[in-house]
Amino acid sequence: MSLEAPVLLQRIPTPPWGDPRDRKLVGIDAYFDSGGYEGLKKAIGTEPSEIVDLVKSSELRGRGGAGFPAGMKWSFLPPEDGNPRYLAVNCDESEPGTFKDRLLTDYDPHLILEGIAICMYACRLDTAYFYIRGEYHQQARTMEFALQEAYEHRIFGEKALIGEINGRSPQCYVHRGAGAYICGEETGLLESLEGKRGWPRIKPPFPAVAGAFGRPTIINNVETLAMVGPIVERGASWFKSMGVARPEGAPPTVPASYGPKLYGISGHVNRPGVYEDQLGVRLSELIEGLCGGMLGGKRFKAAVPGGISMGVLGTDQYDAVLDFDVGKKYGCLGLGTAGVIVMDEDTDMVSVARNIARFFSHESCGQCTPCREGSGWIYKMLCRIEAGDGTTRDLDLLLELAGSMGAMPGTTICGLADGTNWAIRTIVNKFWSEFEARVQKQRYVSLALAGDR
Ligand SMILES: Cc1cc2nc3c(=O)[nH]c(=O)nc-3n(C[C@H](O)[C@H](O)[C@H](O)COP(=O)(O)O)c2cc1C
Ligand code: SF4
Repeated sequence: MSLEAPVLLQRIPTPPWGDPRDRKLVGIDAYFDSGGYEGLKKAIGTEPSEIVDLVKSSELRGRGGAGFPAGMKWSFLPPEDGNPRYLAVNCDESEPGTFKDRLLTDYDPHLILEGIAICMYACRLDTAYFYIRGEYHQQARTMEFALQEAYEHRIFGEKALIGEINGRSPQCYVHRGAGAYICGEETGLLESLEGKRGWPRIKPPFPAVAGAFGRPTIINNVETLAMVGPIVERGASWFKSMGVARPEGAPPTVPASYGPKLYGISGHVNRPGVYEDQLGVRLSELIEGLCGGMLGGKRFKAAVPGGISMGVLGTDQYDAVLDFDVGKKYGCLGLGTAGVIVMDEDTDMVSVARNIARFFSHESCGQCTPCREGSGWIYKMLCRIEAGDGTTRDLDLLLELAGSMGAMPGTTICGLADGTNWAIRTIVNKFWSEFEARVQKQRYVSLALAGDR
């Protein structure tokens, strides 16, 4: 399956439709000239609640990692009470292997701003914060510039096209993060936005009820919001003509995987980059088609399907269908951000696991004991195994530790612990023989005997 024409990348030349060397920043005039802000114009002629219903019926699922249906999230907001309500746009993009939101901010910032304005209008949110990771200096400047253009064209500000919301003129601000992975987690992001340490909050209450500054807040990923304009303009059926329907016989509560999706592919391929395709494209199609095959003609060994917290696909899962069901079908956590990292036959999986464990141990915010202690412990064990000093008992302990982190609901506050769990567990299980070959057989010494010596 492949997409007939680009949607999110319609103004960003990308194979198979365009040459990346022709890319340039799409300013507001070029955006208008190419049909931009048509979705917004249509939206303001429609009742806000109808826009929420439209997004709901499109079954658009969040593109930030969890795949939660966007329209459903929007409908969780309480009725307006005249006080402020917020939109927090998640452009933290710190999940290793993920760089799709950066492409949109680099070249087509108005596609994102159009989605933001429609969401504010539909959900009656008067203030939007574009939360962008600290390392994205250039992208923050691009967004600031695009925002200035948008204010000049009354997308936001006094006399904005979307009108006053909660008695206020709608405002949108760029807010720069300071470079912590955990600030991408939605409630860590809110704490950071409020000027505090990015410590995730215990839920409930969910942000739609009590979010930024204790007020109702919608948090959506950049790509999710970028998809809103085209949906409003072209309709839910158009959106649902792409992607994968829910399995036959599944109840309507099981969300499908509709629409186009950005796949960011890195690692051992000839042409790494961000590509757009339908949800449900096969990993092998992406690698052999858009990415021009494996680097140096080497054989495929493993791939991360969507950011390292999702775990890995094994050697026999080269043909995996990349939709939101990837977790259930192939024994990993899920599609995540669709930031695919491809690894060839020469990749040392012990070293991959050690590197990932180091990341999670470093980025754990430390609030929950299993995550704080467990991730550091796993990292130390993997260093030992990699150095050839591990034992078979270390492997069992590694699986026990990783398998229990985040798996028990309520023992950790956020999903970072689950990410550690899935990444380590899937690598060790799917590449067990590689780990086994690196450890020494454990000689058990009874404690009683040891004491007698
Ligand atoms: C540790 C952690 C890091 C996350 N980082 C990001 C991120 O960088 N960007 C993002 O959009 N979502 C990230 N998320 C997911 C957000 O918590 C949230 O689900 C998402 O922003 C909601 O937007 P969506 O519904 O449009 O996907 C992260 C989650 C966790 C647990
Ligand atoms: S799971 Fe880890 S990162 Fe998340 S709140 Fe707990 S300690 Fe912090």
